[in-house]
Amino acid sequence: MRVLIVGGGGREHALAWKIAQSPLVDEIWCAPGNAGTASLAQNIEIKAEDIQALAELAERKKMDLTVVGPEAPLVAGIVDLFRERGLTVFGPSMEAAQMEGSKSFAKEIMLEGGVATGRAEVFTDYDSAAACIEATGHPYVVKADGLAAGKGVIIAQDDKAAYQALKSCFIDREFGTSGEKVLIEEYLEGPEVSILAFVDGTHVLPMAPAQDYKRIDDGDSGPNTGGMGSYSPVPVLTPEDYARAVNEVLYPTALALMKRGIHYKGILYAGLMLTKDGPRVLEYNVRFGDPEIQAILPRLRSDIVEAMLAVIEGKLEDVNLTWTHEPCVTVVVASGGYPGGYEKGYPISGLEESNSIQGVTVFQAGTRLGNQGEVLTDGGRVLAVSALGEDFALARENAYLGAEKISFQDMYYRRDIAARAAGVT
Ligand code: AMP
Ligand code: GLY
Repeated sequence: MRVLIVGGGGREHALAWKIAQSPLVDEIWCAPGNAGTASLAQNIEIKAEDIQALAELAERKKMDLTVVGPEAPLVAGIVDLFRERGLTVFGPSMEAAQMEGSKSFAKEIMLEGGVATGRAEVFTDYDSAAACIEATGHPYVVKADGLAAGKGVIIAQDDKAAYQALKSCFIDREFGTSGEKVLIEEYLEGPEVSILAFVDGTHVLPMAPAQDYKRIDDGDSGPNTGGMGSYSPVPVLTPEDYARAVNEVLYPTALALMKRGIHYKGILYAGLMLTKDGPRVLEYNVRFGDPEIQAILPRLRSDIVEAMLAVIEGKLEDVNLTWTHEPCVTVVVASGGYPGGYEKGYPISGLEESNSIQGVTVFQAGTRLGNQGEVLTDGGRVLAVSALGEDFALARENAYLGAEKISFQDMYYRRDIAARAAGVT
């Protein structure tokens, strides 16, 4: 098979790495890819958002399967376009991708499916939203309805911050059309966990759970990022809560979509908060999580391509996923200054040394190849060092050993990834 992977981050390098292990696969292409995917696949300079050019490429190169990494092309309808052209593609349709593309749509589906989630009200103008602030208590959770590159959720600790959040959506239009609708949601508390599942319309096949770290600094402080680390499985998630999440969240969501005539096919990712009243959905994503998948895939023994094809064919019932018992810890290595401004183009050393440590795999994210074939920094999140180990303490030790071998100017990483899971704090 010839497989095209759309995207160029750490998630896509991890997907390329796993897909390359499938006996079904002969050749991999990645658009646009990064320096890491270049060692497994043929990179091609097409942006993930340029869905027309991607469809033409898939047709011209006779791709047998296209796997879409990021949300933007899914929400823009890449899957519908590919299907119209008779191309095989893994991911939800444009309509189904609204589960991530519109938080109010996802809320409606959850209500229809009886899925536990925070109470929320939807507003389309500043005045009525502001009136809601006056009527409820803080902290307020203000969410832009549409895609906002992970920046659309504002937790406002007091009234002033809540009005400011509403102003940024409705008046300053910081999120463009994504902020024309706004949800004000009940504030929930508890540990967070991500459960990603293959869904073929009717069947749900969950993967091992993972946890990610959204803040830049240790102790979950500082601004939000795309994700600074992750681990899998998640010790605070009891087997009972995991089963509840599958049976009371993921299945009823797929069913509620079916009732609307939407066959959800692809990855459905539930971001959950484990409240004292049980798991509650914070958000849905319609794709593999980044950096969750960098901690999940090293643990997966099964052939991911088989699972993807079963989703497309509606035969997920026949698939089982098997996992190593070893936990995986992923430490994201970022450019100094991220998530604010940062420099690019610094040479990275120590990649091979890091990769040669037992259990360690380095997934590249914001990297590119220089003229001499050297690997250069090219983004905020530069690498994810993933490590398996017999237990969390050993996996964590390996991941940090791997991160220490790497060096580039102004590199930065958190020191507390999986500390609690490993019993260090
Ligand atoms: P999201 O982009 O929806 O995942 O939200 C980003 C982050 O905001 C989540 O990971 C949570 O930490 C936080 N968050 C979202 N919704 C709520 C809520 N209802 N209560 C408390 N925190 C929330
Ligand atoms: N790690 C969060 C996300 O992929 O959205």
